[in-house]
Amino acid sequence: MIMDKKILFPQVGGLLHGGDYNPEQWLDRPDILEKDIEYMKEAGINVVSLGIFSWAVHEPTEGNINFDWLESIMDRLYENGIYTVLATPTGARPAWLDEKYPSAMRCDEMGVRAHHGLRHNHCMQSPEFREKVRIMDSALGKRFANHPAVLMWHISNELGGYCYCDTCRKKFQEWLADRYDHDIEKLNKAWWTTFWSHKFNSFDQIDPPYKNGENCVMGLNLDWKRYNTWSATDFMKFEIDTLRQAGAAQPTTTNYMEMFYDYDYAYMSKFIDVISWDNYPEMHNNWQSDAEHLLERSFNHALFRSLKPEQPFMMMESAPGLVNWRPYNKYRRPGMHRLISLQAIATGSDTVQYFQIRKSRGCSEQYHGAVIDHIGTNDTRVFKEVAGVGRDLAAISDVAGTIAKNEVGILFDWDNRWAVDDAWCLSNETKNYDKTCMSIYNEFMSLGVEPNIISSDSDWSGYKVICAPMLYLLHDGIGEKISEFVRAGGQFMATYFTGYVNESTLTWLGGFPGDGLSEVFGLRSEEIDTLYPEDEVSISVKKDASNFCSVSKAGELVSTGKASQNSLGIGHVAVHDYQEMLRDVSADVLAVYDNDYMAGKAAITRNKYGAGMAYYVGCRTDQADIEFIYRAMLDAAGIDYEKLPVGVEKHTRFGDGVQYDFYMNCTEEDVCLDGVYGVDLLGGDSDANAMSDARVSGDVGVAGQLRLGRYGVAVVKH
Ligand code: GLA
Ligand code: ZN
Repeated sequence: MIMDKKILFPQVGGLLHGGDYNPEQWLDRPDILEKDIEYMKEAGINVVSLGIFSWAVHEPTEGNINFDWLESIMDRLYENGIYTVLATPTGARPAWLDEKYPSAMRCDEMGVRAHHGLRHNHCMQSPEFREKVRIMDSALGKRFANHPAVLMWHISNELGGYCYCDTCRKKFQEWLADRYDHDIEKLNKAWWTTFWSHKFNSFDQIDPPYKNGENCVMGLNLDWKRYNTWSATDFMKFEIDTLRQAGAAQPTTTNYMEMFYDYDYAYMSKFIDVISWDNYPEMHNNWQSDAEHLLERSFNHALFRSLKPEQPFMMMESAPGLVNWRPYNKYRRPGMHRLISLQAIATGSDTVQYFQIRKSRGCSEQYHGAVIDHIGTNDTRVFKEVAGVGRDLAAISDVAGTIAKNEVGILFDWDNRWAVDDAWCLSNETKNYDKTCMSIYNEFMSLGVEPNIISSDSDWSGYKVICAPMLYLLHDGIGEKISEFVRAGGQFMATYFTGYVNESTLTWLGGFPGDGLSEVFGLRSEEIDTLYPEDEVSISVKKDASNFCSVSKAGELVSTGKASQNSLGIGHVAVHDYQEMLRDVSADVLAVYDNDYMAGKAAITRNKYGAGMAYYVGCRTDQADIEFIYRAMLDAAGIDYEKLPVGVEKHTRFGDGVQYDFYMNCTEEDVCLDGVYGVDLLGGDSDANAMSDARVSGDVGVAGQLRLGRYGVAVVKH
């Protein structure tokens, strides 16, 4: 597969290694600042993020802006080969600003204004705050538009949250008026407001869903979340436009957060150049194996990668050693830092960046992990592990600009996620939309096939297999998009709770799934039943269901899960949480319910539609128990797969005719993989003792067998 590389930062020539650096906290300690540079070079650090929380230093009193300190530090770093990701400082406000312009401070969901303090809590629509931001950002933009050290602009920091102030209330009303063509009856219809006498006469009667106000109108709740995505994006665009008007042309990013709930990142991403996110795994926790936890990281990486799949993304932050804001803050065990760092590269990041280079001496982050600790030396375990990652990144620098090319997509949609959670049905304890998407991702990963995470409106043309779990809400046109995908030969899998409501959260009439999808799947759903955890429900997979896939036979089928085999030679699979009663089934039935009033009725089906196949899984099972469906879809799509040992991840990046397969052993036990050929760019590393100064990376041929020790990683080029 020949694909061109998409190099994000040609001036760097390789992968980026570095992180948030706050030299403004140490301006009276030039000795420390000098040491930092020496240590950064030793650790192979070539980039820092500057100015994220520097507003009070940039502008100590209103209008008194001075960037000399910043420029001299930036110059000094640059002389030493360290580039800058330059932030707009809007993540936190100086005291003088809030004192003079209280509208900058956010109001909570009761409408109560916050006091000054903390960070990330401004009103994104406050005109006074905007004006101060405009002055600051244009000054920054003008000053650093042509500075050779500036790689890119980092807009604010971790944008998040909603504001319920009067300005935002008015903005919301205007936004609604635009959305509903200034026709209040359109809104009333879309929101079904005759219910409980909730009809509005005009847009200016509408409040945000205050905690002590109207929060039982699903359409209102969903539009409020959409509006807030718009508002945050509007703020971000305002900052970007301001920089551009000041002449700054460098690419832009804003740092995203894992599985972030507040805003629809698929929408926001249209307005920035590069995707970046902050990755804070909770390793060695007490509820999950490290391998399971790392797989959740992979899902997140895939989510962010897929927002701009045509180019690499950035891991903008991660913790050297540990974080300090969790209920339990545990250090990463030796070697884990390396595994987490290389996982980012494996999944498509061109950077390993940290929060933070040096620990602050006081305040709430003084005990958060950093490359350089309070002890101030370069011989700490964490420093050595960071330096080891620096050497690894240098050894695999050719990977920069290569991209993943995945043909399996998992549909993960913010509107749907919000609507699922807000629907008054099922059980709020077990809806688990996010986890359900992840479990499907995990199933493909166990087969050595990495999916992308796509949305309703992304370009589906590169995908051969798409799974859309719990696609409760159907955007306008999505029914036709799915039909078209299947008709043209795609393999599509839907589950229980599909196609219940339209874009406004009004139910589809005439049977679920709506919008023409009952024809695609060859069935309608009549009931969805919620199970208690202790309910014992199962389905029987028909023996000939396994004939649909080349690999599984009935015997193998049952051995892939917890299922047992009954006397009829049929595999039983346990059902959890939800079971749908299907009717009008014209599709082939692959599995039927065993128990209770649904016994004998269709539970899993597949329907030939056009040139493709539409699978419907009407109940929740462990994905491993229905692996035959995944195999069948991959077989039909002509995608190679091979079961990986438990705890091993495989990721692939392509570019300029070269392929890099990353193998990660996320367990503490040695593993051996067969059928691997090429050159391991991290060869000689089978024990993965990342702490050891002596570990050297080098090219080592792999001819069939690849052995990976505890937390071992191989980057096999071929
Ligand atoms: C976030 C922020 C950083 C820092 C880290 C600590 O990601 O962006 O400023 O507070 O958390 O983990
Ligand atoms: Zn506000």
